[in-house]
Amino acid sequence: EKGGYEHFMLKEIFEQPRSVHDSMRGRVNSATGHLLLGGLREYLNKMIHARRIIIIGCGTSWHAGLVAEYIFEEFARVPVEVEYASEFRYRNPIINEGDVVIAISQSGETADTLAAIELAKSKGAIIFGVCNVVGSSIPRATHAGAYTHAGPEIGVASTKAFTAQVVVLTMMGIILAKAKGTISETDYRKLLVELETIPEKIEKILSNHKQIEYISDLFKEARNFLFLGRGYNFPVALEGALKLKEISYIHAEGYPAAEMKHGPIALIDEEMPVVFIATKDSSYEKIVSNIQEVRARKGRVIAVVTENDKLISQMAEFIIEIPHTHEALMPLLSVIPLQLLSYYIAVMRGCNVDQPRNLAKSVTVE
Ligand code: M6R
Repeated sequence: EKGGYEHFMLKEIFEQPRSVHDSMRGRVNSATGHLLLGGLREYLNKMIHARRIIIIGCGTSWHAGLVAEYIFEEFARVPVEVEYASEFRYRNPIINEGDVVIAISQSGETADTLAAIELAKSKGAIIFGVCNVVGSSIPRATHAGAYTHAGPEIGVASTKAFTAQVVVLTMMGIILAKAKGTISETDYRKLLVELETIPEKIEKILSNHKQIEYISDLFKEARNFLFLGRGYNFPVALEGALKLKEISYIHAEGYPAAEMKHGPIALIDEEMPVVFIATKDSSYEKIVSNIQEVRARKGRVIAVVTENDKLISQMAEFIIEIPHTHEALMPLLSVIPLQLLSYYIAVMRGCNVDQPRNLAKSVTVE
């Protein structure tokens, strides 16, 4: 059932060209300009008029929510708050009638997310679910939703569910933007065209797995890791750190690169690997200076960059090249090398990657 792969996690990482394609199937067509999420239709009007959108989730699903925040705010111009379901439900949040809550969950069974939904529902919010497991508890508790269609995810570390969540949330953001008239026709078309190229670009990144395995071998004994990114790649930094810690038990932290100077830079020495997600986007120059700051303190830099980046390839100890895409879609690509890096490091350390210690696939305890 692992389809010839050594672990479910690796199989699921390699399934992403397919699963991303599946999550767009019948929903996007750039040639005709068609973009549709069936579950959204009935509630689109309410979403257009929502004064704000609250996104809730846990772990990796919360990271997908952060990516969505950037997309929704940039294109649909609606204020978004992203919250850990566990914090949201216990802090007496302000929820008004007509507020829209988007709950993200792979399993659809996460106890904190489910309880947060019930709370928001009792206060009159409209709840939209983005889940992977069909017929699970969360989709049953929501008013409407869209399935991610990533297929069963068995490995405890979430990989293909994350990219599918980001695809669905991206589609939602674009649909909303289009309906509100806050996106230009050019941007709209461009995003649809780019969305359709994501599967083949992921394929290309995966074909480079040997290089990532090679880098993993050189860093497998590290005791700490830092992951830094800006803008759309900031949530990816958090996700890279979470992947590494949960399956390899290496202490890792993700930060927005600009926050480094407010504390974490004190950690940098010749033993600190720093993974930069530094693709060519609007914050490129800024992140290049962050790389210089780390180099100046002898930190070991591994950089995920856009193909043919000559500048960073001279500064970093190792670079991992990925294809170019629209800045807003970059997380779908930049997360892939980080999934592989954590996978290979964990395997090399002899860890049980599919079932890491102390963790469960769905967290049904509060
Ligand atoms: O099933 P869910 O998406 O609700 O699960 C949320 C988290 O428990 C989950 O993403 C967890 O953080 C993963 N192990 C991360 O890889």
